[in-house]
Amino acid sequence: MPEVRERVDRRGAVGKGVLSAREVSPARVKETAAPFEAFPRDASGLRCEGVSLDVIARAIGTPCYVYSSAAIRDQYRRLREAMGKLDMRLHYSAKANSSIAILALLRELGAGLDIVSGGELFRALKAGYSGRDIVFSGVGKTEREMEEALRADVLLFNVESEQELQVLDAVAKRLGLVAPVAVRVNPEVLVDTPHPYTRTGEKGMKFGIPFDEALSVAKVAANLKNVHLLGLDMHVGSQISQFAPYEVGVQRLLHLRREIERDTKARLEYLDIGGGLAVTYDAESTVDIGHFGEVIGALVGGSGLRIILEPGRFLVGNAGVLLTRVLYRKRSGGKEFIIADAGMTDLLRPSHYNAFHRIEAVNPTGRTTVADVVGPICESGDFLALDRQIDDAQPGDLLAVQSTGAYGFVMSSNYNARPRPAEVLVDGTRFAVITRRETYDDLVRNDNNSPAWRNS
Ligand SMILES: Cc1ncc(COP(=O)(O)O)c(C=O)c1O
Repeated sequence: MPEVRERVDRRGAVGKGVLSAREVSPARVKETAAPFEAFPRDASGLRCEGVSLDVIARAIGTPCYVYSSAAIRDQYRRLREAMGKLDMRLHYSAKANSSIAILALLRELGAGLDIVSGGELFRALKAGYSGRDIVFSGVGKTEREMEEALRADVLLFNVESEQELQVLDAVAKRLGLVAPVAVRVNPEVLVDTPHPYTRTGEKGMKFGIPFDEALSVAKVAANLKNVHLLGLDMHVGSQISQFAPYEVGVQRLLHLRREIERDTKARLEYLDIGGGLAVTYDAESTVDIGHFGEVIGALVGGSGLRIILEPGRFLVGNAGVLLTRVLYRKRSGGKEFIIADAGMTDLLRPSHYNAFHRIEAVNPTGRTTVADVVGPICESGDFLALDRQIDDAQPGDLLAVQSTGAYGFVMSSNYNARPRPAEVLVDGTRFAVITRRETYDDLVRNDNNSPAWRNS
């Protein structure tokens, strides 16, 4: 904890004079109420809520993702409650898991959405969201996406560069509309995440407007006729279990707000503090969201701003497992391999982020081994776990790859011409396919083996 405080403070020098002398708070690691246990075990093996994973695998096949609706509801409720009386709306970050049924479940709970593409907007509208429920983030919005979002009447465009602002103004003018805008600022704080790819709020990243340019870009926004400057936005990274980056970032944005309101006629209404709250993948302590609420409340309470929080992973990460069946066992070079029917095309996180996911046998053999759990894909980087002490699962046995509700299915691909897996939602003692498994026909749907050649 002191280490993070030290690192953030040192980086505070980047914006000398910007920060108030306020102390940054390390995250406490106490948790009041334990999260819902979505995947309990009984004599019949591992379950999701009241449904046996073995039953799901037999009915739907493997690989497939299985999500607990109760776990999602519970996380949403806990986070909502932790934010107390703050004027805050949770805008679920659709990129974490954008299945329409999951989006709809969160809409029923009262969530808004954070989207990053026209495709996510399309999904959001299909799931019953209205534009006013949606903030549109993303570093490279196209004119077409802007037009679609303007027509949908989104709540805010989180704008990430001056050029984007100018293009948005032109698109809005063409449509005879005014685009509601928040300037996404890179708060340039040090962020401690398990992998560098999940940091976004450090100096020199592609995301957001560099902190020392943000005021001048805001002034441009305030003067454009077809944009309405309404807020500021940041997103410091993902899988963050320390609160210091939020605290420093929010202080910086509040300071910037004062400068903007001093120098322009704009009156800001929104402060979007992004997503990033961590979940547990292994034996980490859970993030104390009650304390998070206190920290943010102490900073923004009384500011008159409406706060937007964009949690993705926190709401769905621990609510899902990837079910996979063991195909083969083999030994090579003195090492044990468990070859499963799921690999990096189904779950990219282990090979892309070197991410750790617990793997449990649905019906344990009672013996353990140390093995690499690998998939069928023709890549040496295709693995789910390396050198892992694990159940001595044999061909035909089922494994549950835990904590794969976020950034699992959404990052799946058709590499090696593999149909993408099914997604199943459990609710109590019932379950339903919410995304059907792709077929071979799906794989070739867009191919054209008699192309219509055009002359140059
Ligand atoms: C702008 C923005 N908001 C929210 C999120 C959600 O992050 P997380 O899933 O860690 O909460 C992301 C993730 O990359 C993001 O880029």
